[in-house]
Amino acid sequence: MNMIDIINKKRLKQDLTKEEFQFVIDGYLNKEIPDYQVSALLMAICLNGMTYKETSDLTGVMLKSGDQIDLSKIKGRKVDKHSTGGVGDKITLILGPLVASCGVKVAKMSGRGLGHTGGTIDKLESIPGFQVELKQEEFINQVNKLGFALVSQSGNLVPADKKLYALRDVTGTVESIPLIASSIMSKKCASGADKIVIDVKVGEGALVKTLEDARTLAQYMVHIGKEHGKETVCVLTRMSEPLGFAIGNALEVQEAMDVLQDKGPEDVKKIVIELGKYMVSMGLDISISEAEKLVKTHLKDGSAYDTFLKFVKAQGGEIENLSFAPKVFSIKSSKNGIVNHIDAYKLGILVHQMGAGRETLEDEIDYGVGIVLSKKVGDFVLENEELMKVYLNKKDVKLNDLINCFSIENDFTNQTPLIYEVIK
Ligand code: URA
Repeated sequence: MNMIDIINKKRLKQDLTKEEFQFVIDGYLNKEIPDYQVSALLMAICLNGMTYKETSDLTGVMLKSGDQIDLSKIKGRKVDKHSTGGVGDKITLILGPLVASCGVKVAKMSGRGLGHTGGTIDKLESIPGFQVELKQEEFINQVNKLGFALVSQSGNLVPADKKLYALRDVTGTVESIPLIASSIMSKKCASGADKIVIDVKVGEGALVKTLEDARTLAQYMVHIGKEHGKETVCVLTRMSEPLGFAIGNALEVQEAMDVLQDKGPEDVKKIVIELGKYMVSMGLDISISEAEKLVKTHLKDGSAYDTFLKFVKAQGGEIENLSFAPKVFSIKSSKNGIVNHIDAYKLGILVHQMGAGRETLEDEIDYGVGIVLSKKVGDFVLENEELMKVYLNKKDVKLNDLINCFSIENDFTNQTPLIYEVIK
């Protein structure tokens, strides 16, 4: 086999075989195939696509490139959750404890922030003392005992994806749908859960901007899941405005706790219930409507919050010491009107620049900075009324840049749905 033939085959829109993918991934990881040849193949895939079979074969090869987590010592069905990433996305912090309180086992591995979107691990590390690394045995024991543990993704989970993703990032090939599907599903399959629920974010604040692309991505992932024996459900949800009110690590943890105490923003609550009902239905083998009832009850009666507190304590976190940045400013509207749009992408970037995210891997995060919206799309606002509170520490932000993320008009041209559709 030879790499030039494989590149030419894809350039000519022919399908690649599993053996060819194995050759590429092995050669790339062993440094026998150089970056420039893999880049050429990635671009050919980007332009000419891959079939379901090719994408599933590539996923199978990638997932075997490193550790495959063995969760067989956890009793009961293990259900995992993933989000394709958005601004203000604190859903995992609520959903994990909620679903666990219903009796489903969630042994979760998460990543750090990527670009303008935050990462669940960074959010948890805003809780003083919280340990994101557990020994395999501690991880398993905690899931058996509490139903939920969350750790930083193992360093050797799908090394093929780490290398390919870094190359995609600098070769304009991140946006290929089959490449996104194989990247996500290889990590999900290697993480060891039996069933998977994926929140596919759609809109300007997300990786996938259109409903059509989100649908295609979901269909690929559901298909790959089936091929690898992991039933997968994808829920397509809105990511044009930020999710909830809070953006920034500690502020999002606080908002997650509000929702767990039956307060907090309605959009977050609705997505939690939607994803939760599929996780619980698959985890306990009960109907969707029974699962929905259970999820709503556990969110209301405090059992999910109780599981959250136990989970934080078990991993060393001192939630009572959660703190926010010291300089707090209120940003006010310059006119009366209706909020038509809040630019999630731009706000995500600004909060990142305020110190909530890293520019390089070595950067330290300022956990307490961020913003809390006072208005959401569709809300009326009066001149001088508050649009948001800004929490700053060492770095500054231009207040005008924040205000420009809001578009306030006299009329309201309707909001897109929060939950578009479910693909399974
Ligand atoms: N998230 C991933 O894990 N992989 C991608 O390719 C895109 C988003």
